[in-house]
Amino acid sequence: MCGIVGYIGTQEAYPILIKGLHRLEYRGYDSAGIALINGKGTLSVYKEKGKVSALEASVAESDTSGTIGIAHTRWATHGEPNATNAHPHYSQSKNLALVHNGIIENYKSLRTMLEKNGITFCSDTDTEVLVQLVEYMQHSHNCDLFTAVQLALKNVIGAYAIAIIEKTHPDRLVCARKGSPLIIGVGKSDNGRAEFYLGSDATPIVEYTKQVIYLNDEEIASMDRSGKLEITNLSNVKQTPQLVTLQLDLDQLEKGGFPHFMLKEIWEQPNALRTCIRGRLNVVEKDVLLSGIIDHKEKFLNCKRIIICACGTSWHSALIGKYFIEEACQLPVEVEYASEFRYRNPVIHPDDVVIAVSQSGETADTLAAIQLAKEHGAFLYGICNVIGSSIARATDSGTYLHVGPEIGVASTKAFTGQVITLCLLGLAIAKEKKTLSDEMFHMLVDELQQIPDKMQWTLENNKHIDQFAQMFTYCKNFIYLGRGYNYPVALEGALKLKEISYIHAEGYPAAEMKHGPIALVDEEMPVVVIAPKRGMYDKVVSNIQEIKSRKGKIISVVTKGDSVVRGMSDYSFVIPDTRDCYVPLLAVIPLQLLSYYVAVAKGRNVDQPRNLAKSVTVE
Ligand code: AGP
Ligand code: GLU
Repeated sequence: MCGIVGYIGTQEAYPILIKGLHRLEYRGYDSAGIALINGKGTLSVYKEKGKVSALEASVAESDTSGTIGIAHTRWATHGEPNATNAHPHYSQSKNLALVHNGIIENYKSLRTMLEKNGITFCSDTDTEVLVQLVEYMQHSHNCDLFTAVQLALKNVIGAYAIAIIEKTHPDRLVCARKGSPLIIGVGKSDNGRAEFYLGSDATPIVEYTKQVIYLNDEEIASMDRSGKLEITNLSNVKQTPQLVTLQLDLDQLEKGGFPHFMLKEIWEQPNALRTCIRGRLNVVEKDVLLSGIIDHKEKFLNCKRIIICACGTSWHSALIGKYFIEEACQLPVEVEYASEFRYRNPVIHPDDVVIAVSQSGETADTLAAIQLAKEHGAFLYGICNVIGSSIARATDSGTYLHVGPEIGVASTKAFTGQVITLCLLGLAIAKEKKTLSDEMFHMLVDELQQIPDKMQWTLENNKHIDQFAQMFTYCKNFIYLGRGYNYPVALEGALKLKEISYIHAEGYPAAEMKHGPIALVDEEMPVVVIAPKRGMYDKVVSNIQEIKSRKGKIISVVTKGDSVVRGMSDYSFVIPDTRDCYVPLLAVIPLQLLSYYVAVAKGRNVDQPRNLAKSVTVE
């Protein structure tokens, strides 16, 4: 689930691997390790609990020479995070070293079988069975590493991206994937031959080459120091690799003067959204052009409903998408937690459109949900940020967010990117179905175009949040309230606070308070209310009164010029006026900033909060 880096070529591998591990740090992890084969044919494995810097410090005096190596950041699923369970894992003879992302579901039965055959295990991980099984296959079938990996993986149930090196054959790196991403970068070494880089995403590779191959599920690749690359499937059928060019720049992976990626990404939102709508929103001709829809128009015209599957923040944007699409297109939309949907025998019709919303495009539950939908013949549409990701490739059509790489674990610009993309999608469908009057359609197009500038204004006018965030560091609980389009914003604001500051927070539809949660309110409880001067303004004002009567502290998000709610609040964040449906794009910004500054004031690791990973490729 976490990160893999690999290298084989003529350069020293260690600096490339360590830098790669640093680039993968954003994904969140608990330990790190590295395996290298030096010029004398010694295979060394070094691993440490904690940060990559701890690993670097521990190997400072060791031999880290060698032109082939693999490295790993681990997010423990089986076995506590310690140095023993960290990857790489040796095989029993120490001839092989392997790194793995994912989960081996049948590891217990495999381990029992291997132990019966005299193999001793060193760790508690599911991963160790892989390396022991590969070596067992090598010995029992008297075959080379590549064949042994093929044979071993035929017996494995679960998800994996693996990389493996062999002491007695230091000129070859073997890797394979199923359900967990793996990318091969093809570079050129000094002698003009190919050198190979490996990454669980493109970030450790882009610095060296933009020519990459995305490994497909159940493919095994062998990379040779002589420049030879061979890819087969598990049944040894040769596969033709497709070389593609990465659309990612190195400077997008740096902090650019900000103390954290999260703050950088919050501030990037106006420009990121301009890029997202560029070429898709035409204000002159009052048009919306989404090629993913144009090419499959009839699917959207003929479908009886849309089902959106997502997790976490992406689920929140999906909910906003539902409100928008139902209103603009008069089409029923169901929003599902992918993890529930995949296991509950849902009713899916061949004329359903199933949309997967995912920043990473790798979330295991979301991927499984669309695979299930595919089995039922539904049309699959992907809304992803990461280009070439598994969900983007598994869907029939889709739209990329184009908001640039999101490194902070807490999603910010991907959220607003998803919301605006779902609005574009709703407008594109409404245009085809003619469910909006021309006047309304044009007005929504015009207003959407102005959102990036209004976001910029919101950022500039809410900078001061850092000055009072300190006051909330002692709070144990927060409540977030919103109605209509702003109910998902309340959920998102609460999630942001929880995940990076570790303060308990809950989001509710404002009117639900009186059905139970209001019992929690006392003078200790901060209640964040999204109260724009729109739609249900008067109702929300009443909800605020109810909380004030119970002495709750009110923090409100209000429309510029509104003095009523401002006057009722202990603290207020101001946003510009916009249509109800677009308010979430602005209202979420002060909530992102609030959670960021509270977390900083509490001394939290904002970009890599505890227990979390950026890309959840396990169930
Ligand atoms: C967002 O802040 C979270 N880290 C998390 O909820 C995330 O949105 C979720 O895991 C889904 O990820 P995805 O968009 O990459 O599928
Ligand atoms: N399941 C493996 C472990 O717990 C791999 C975890 C990962 O993907 O980082 O060691």
